Amino acid sequence: MTTAGAARPRVAVLVSGNGSNLQAIIDRCTGPQGSIELAAVISDRPEVFALERARQAGVAGVTVDYRATGDREAFARSLAAELDRLRPDFVVLAGFMRILPATLVDRYRGRMLNVHPSLLPKYPGLDTYRRVLAAGDPWHGATVHFVTADLDAGPAIVQYRLRVRPGDTAQSLRERVQAGEHQIYPQAVGWIATGRVTLREHTVFMDGAARAAPVIVDEPSPD
Ligand code: GRF
Repeated sequence: MTTAGAARPRVAVLVSGNGSNLQAIIDRCTGPQGSIELAAVISDRPEVFALERARQAGVAGVTVDYRATGDREAFARSLAAELDRLRPDFVVLAGFMRILPATLVDRYRGRMLNVHPSLLPKYPGLDTYRRVLAAGDPWHGATVHFVTADLDAGPAIVQYRLRVRPGDTAQSLRERVQAGEHQIYPQAVGWIATGRVTLREHTVFMDGAARAAPVIVDEPSPD
């Protein structure tokens, strides 16, 4: 619960595209009853719809243009400078498509989250929907995890899990997984904002207890 006037953690959300996860976080984590102050939305590309969502929510939108900065190192330096200026308590990657250097990730250890469309550690990387279908997996889903220097391998906080149905396509899986992301990501952001979830060494703690596995949220059954 947030009381009026109480300091709320400042969050920067990094985006690259549509921003539907950003929207879910705006809707559920900001405003008078929300747990965070959304300090800024940072995009690696101009003219993405996520920046329009930020504008509509009255949140500062910043572009650190990947193409204009020249190369990966220069981009990372520009992004780090922007974060230094904003001084967020937490950094939330929401459909952000750049791999960040370890130096930057380490500075936000325990304070940087990502959402990935698979049940990690299965299927890190891209194109998870097609890969799950090709493998004939019975389950798919999404994971919110702390970001570490290992790509898509940081300690997991919460997973949304769904059964792959006969007739599922990459598109139908994407829609169901994203609906789940919009549920678990704001939930996880609220948990870290209120201190319910923390990272100590490589272990996620929730309400003071070490977790051996992420919280699992199952997709409701269709009937
Ligand atoms: C999400 O599905 C997320 O899992 C992946 O990129 C997608 C971004 O979607 N990392 P959006 O920009 O939040 O709509």
